[in-house]
Amino acid sequence: MKKEKIIIANWKMKLGLAETVKLSLEMKEKFSEFKKGEIVVCPNFISLLPVKKALQDSRIKTGAQDSFWEARGAYTGEISPDLLIEAGCDYVIIGHSERRQYLLLNYEIIHRELRAVLNTNKLTPIVCIGESLTEKKEGQSDRVIFEQLQQALTGIEFIEDQQIVIAYEPIWAIGTDKVATPAEVAYAHKIIRLTINDMFGIHVANHNFRIVYGGSVSSKNVHDFIGVENVDGFLVGGASLDADEFYKIAKTFTK
Ligand code: PGA
Repeated sequence: MKKEKIIIANWKMKLGLAETVKLSLEMKEKFSEFKKGEIVVCPNFISLLPVKKALQDSRIKTGAQDSFWEARGAYTGEISPDLLIEAGCDYVIIGHSERRQYLLLNYEIIHRELRAVLNTNKLTPIVCIGESLTEKKEGQSDRVIFEQLQQALTGIEFIEDQQIVIAYEPIWAIGTDKVATPAEVAYAHKIIRLTINDMFGIHVANHNFRIVYGGSVSSKNVHDFIGVENVDGFLVGGASLDADEFYKIAKTFTK
């Protein structure tokens, strides 16, 4: 089955509210003639509603950068998947390495968050995995990828066409300008693909999963990933803060 490519912008906490809306309007303009592939922007929580409004009549979808595992209750500061749906989100990033690093998020929590998202059957999770520099140097990358997938996904049951995006984001490549080589990405994505095949069977793996790469992707290196097996798109941080740059990435990869 040929899957639609997907290019996701992760704006992190890099922009204010007005800047976020401005960038959304620029994106809307840039992508007005864009027909191929899925485009998603993930602003900060408080910008979700105005961004949704700014992107009205555009193909660009919105996603959040995190969500909590309970639907409602005494959880100060948290946002549930249902709230994200009400805010018009189609996607949500789960387990980004910056949250793993600064908020000590682990894969047990990531698993709970993922389940809560899947239970809504209305949001597509973008589950982040990837090894640190030390783990890479110690030759542990394969094991780490395998274990993170197992911990995040074990016991998940699929409701019909429920989609999951796995984002392979080696921590050493995020925001560092040290993009992984196409060979490294092909190798890691192969491991991801084989692990998912093993866990869910080939049909579900092909039908319900897409695998994207993230880590210093830009218009200068995106060409290198064209035709690399098991790369269905990108999660783009720094380079997604410029509408023209992000458009170039999307255009080049979906050609
Ligand atoms: P980067 O970030 O493109 O700036 O490396 C990617 C990410 O953190 O998702």
